[in-house]
Amino acid sequence: MKKISIAIDGPAGAGKSTIAKALAKKLGCIYIDTGAMYRAVGLYCIQNGINYHNENDVSQIMQTLQVDIYSEDNQQFIYLNGKDVSLEIRTDEVAAAASKVATYKEVRAALVRQQRQMQSAKSVVMDGRDIGTVVMPDATLKIFLTASVSERAKRRFAEYQHKGIAVTLEKLTQEIIDRDNQDSSREISPLKKAEDAVEVDTSLLTIDEIVDKIMSFIIK
Ligand code: CDP
Repeated sequence: MKKISIAIDGPAGAGKSTIAKALAKKLGCIYIDTGAMYRAVGLYCIQNGINYHNENDVSQIMQTLQVDIYSEDNQQFIYLNGKDVSLEIRTDEVAAAASKVATYKEVRAALVRQQRQMQSAKSVVMDGRDIGTVVMPDATLKIFLTASVSERAKRRFAEYQHKGIAVTLEKLTQEIIDRDNQDSSREISPLKKAEDAVEVDTSLLTIDEIVDKIMSFIIK
């Protein structure tokens, strides 16, 4: 089969990872969650007392930090300096740190280089904020997923409840608004729809409906 690359971008809670995973399974591609890589950098700062608001300090650690992603049976594992941190990175504290370190040039350069290497050899479905615009500008298909803030906050709330994490809907809504602002307004690779991306609003669609819709773009 010809090598394909599918870019899925969009804000927090738009459904990127669920949709990207389902698409990768259907197409027999590897799924790469680039947000997990930024989260791993954020987690490292939190765990090692590094002030993630200080660009110099974070840029320095990028010289030795090792972030690896492995996919197995459509499940993804993220390793930080050889240790599996796949579960630890899924907190809102880590998400906020990830969004901050993602504004730094050195962090983006290192992770984007790694993401491009991963997609050069294999067919991939990659999700993030800058995949269609920066990481894979020549992607076979680019999708920009959106949903209203309230819908996205509700989804995150349900996800956290399922995991037994205590948080209020109000707090999650505010965090999503703050992260949207930070991700869209940063200077380097801000979150924005690539000109040639297809926008899909997921607010009123089921997961299967979204996947079918995107598959129809690929089959055409
Ligand atoms: O899962 P969720 O949408 O909440 O976030 P994520 O995809 O895990 O990404 C966490 C943070 O990493 C985002 O808020 C972005 O600031 C950053 N990120 C980025 O800048 N570029 C990417 N390609 C992926 C994530």
